[in-house]
Amino acid sequence: MGDNHETKLLDGKAMALQIKDEIANEVRAMTSAGRRAPHLAAVIVGEDGASMTYVASKEKSSHEVGFTSSVYRMSEQTTERQLLETIDFLNNDPDIDGFIVQLPLPKHIDEQKVINAIAPDKDVDGFTPVNVGRMVLGEECFVPATPMGICTLLKRYGIETAGKHCVVLGRSNIVGTPVANLLSRKGFDCTVTMCHSRTQNLKELCLQADILVVAIGKPEFVTADMVKPGAVVVDVGIHRVPDATKKTGYRIIGDVKHDEVDQKCSWVTPVPGGVGPLTIVSLLQNTLAAYHRHTGR
Ligand code: GUN
Repeated sequence: MGDNHETKLLDGKAMALQIKDEIANEVRAMTSAGRRAPHLAAVIVGEDGASMTYVASKEKSSHEVGFTSSVYRMSEQTTERQLLETIDFLNNDPDIDGFIVQLPLPKHIDEQKVINAIAPDKDVDGFTPVNVGRMVLGEECFVPATPMGICTLLKRYGIETAGKHCVVLGRSNIVGTPVANLLSRKGFDCTVTMCHSRTQNLKELCLQADILVVAIGKPEFVTADMVKPGAVVVDVGIHRVPDATKKTGYRIIGDVKHDEVDQKCSWVTPVPGGVGPLTIVSLLQNTLAAYHRHTGR
């Protein structure tokens, strides 16, 4: 801990448990009234380790809140056409409220073409052009899970955002771009700076951040000399590094060097147990919303 302040954890794990409990109660009330449970499906192509971990975790969380969950596992050799046929099936199955296609896809498949084929009203990842467009316009839509989780974390912890300078590191379609958009909007009212690989004065910009969102995909990239004292730091990174002292043989680290940065900021998301658990919960929230829309109740 620092000399005269205590850094507080944005405890995503605890918050995720609480929100899952809220969802589970709602689902229980509906199913005991004779309604079917919400149904979330996932498609995974190939056997990428991280993707399999994500999908397993989505499946487990779905069951925990009482959702029906199905996973379509397709081989690495699946053709684009076969994948598009599966998406067509899921788009048209009235028992499925929402589905996700786990990314990345194998190189021989055109990712954007696949995303474009997902019916926007089942696109609980919020990746289709219709949902991205709606989000930018501030219309009702499915917001991508990671940015939505970050927003939930800031909001439920009562972090002051209005007029604050939020610096976002990374401009991906999944995290950087949508989170920059959401935090600049009414309700959050941040002044947002988005930084990327071509940004020239990255350190100086980071030092101006009241809120620093790091989604740059580089292990322990952000060091203490880049952080303004008292800043709120959100670490979106997830990296496995070998660690012989662990039973699993690895440990998880983020995009932020926590052992030094944590002493400088006011609030920080731990890794693991920060943004990650909220991402999955956001997907469940989107699926519940899709269910209400589909069932008209
Ligand atoms: N790969 C990494 N993150 C995500 C995500 O949120 N959704 C999907 N579909 N794939 C991902």
